[in-house]
Amino acid sequence: MLNRAILNTFQNLVVNLHIIFKAWYIFSQRDLKMILDAVEAKKKFYLYTGRGPSSETMHLGHLIPFIFTKYMQDAFDVPLVIQLTDDEKFYWKNLKLEEANRLAYENTKDIIACGFDVNKTFIFSDLDFAGSCKEFHKNVLKIRKSVTFNQVRSIFGFTDSDPIGKISFPAVQAAPSFSNSFPQIFGERHDVPCLIPCAIDQDPYFRMTRDVAPRLGYLKPALLHSTFFPALQGAKTKMSSSDPNSSIFLTDTRLR
Ligand code: TRP
Repeated sequence: MLNRAILNTFQNLVVNLHIIFKAWYIFSQRDLKMILDAVEAKKKFYLYTGRGPSSETMHLGHLIPFIFTKYMQDAFDVPLVIQLTDDEKFYWKNLKLEEANRLAYENTKDIIACGFDVNKTFIFSDLDFAGSCKEFHKNVLKIRKSVTFNQVRSIFGFTDSDPIGKISFPAVQAAPSFSNSFPQIFGERHDVPCLIPCAIDQDPYFRMTRDVAPRLGYLKPALLHSTFFPALQGAKTKMSSSDPNSSIFLTDTRLR
């Protein structure tokens, strides 16, 4: 849990506690202490977050982890990697691969608008980068070798009739948690600690990642979980692209 004690340690390291923290939108963590210890020891960590590009434009709910990640990048001056999982949406949705890839580029415009540090931010699509970077791919293979079907079935609820693309996808979402997946940023270093701000529904991917990390000789990534943003229908509901009336989209016109 994210308790007062750890928030106080956090607060001592940053200038201002972000409203997202104050409002408890970030409500839980895993291993945040490891990151705070690294900061106190003047060591660097990096941030990793992502987006599954399944709609043309993003809504305010999607933006929460990104706004928060931008605040973290400003506060700690660290590298950030952002994964656009066009492969995931190709497997899960009725989308052509080219269309999922196009949506990744459309969504990237919304993401860039959050104002990340251009010199310290790497935004990539799985189709364009994950398949062509050897070091990234090596980690995907190592993860695939270390996780059994039994494990992913119990974590994600896969069934015998699911395509093998879905079954092997979690390894692709796990790989950016290890710094040597990005040789252009970290060289051969595999020990740069990773902090992942994400919505709570992504936790299963990273429970799996944290489980395999020690077996591969890697650090477990730390996590900060955000809760869902309420829909226009009220506090107990969740903003969702599938119900346009629930959401404020980034492309909606401004009310005057
Ligand atoms: N699977 C996520 C989604 O559908 C996208 C994603 C990939 C992600 N890597 C991530 C989200 C890391 C948060 C953190 O939106």
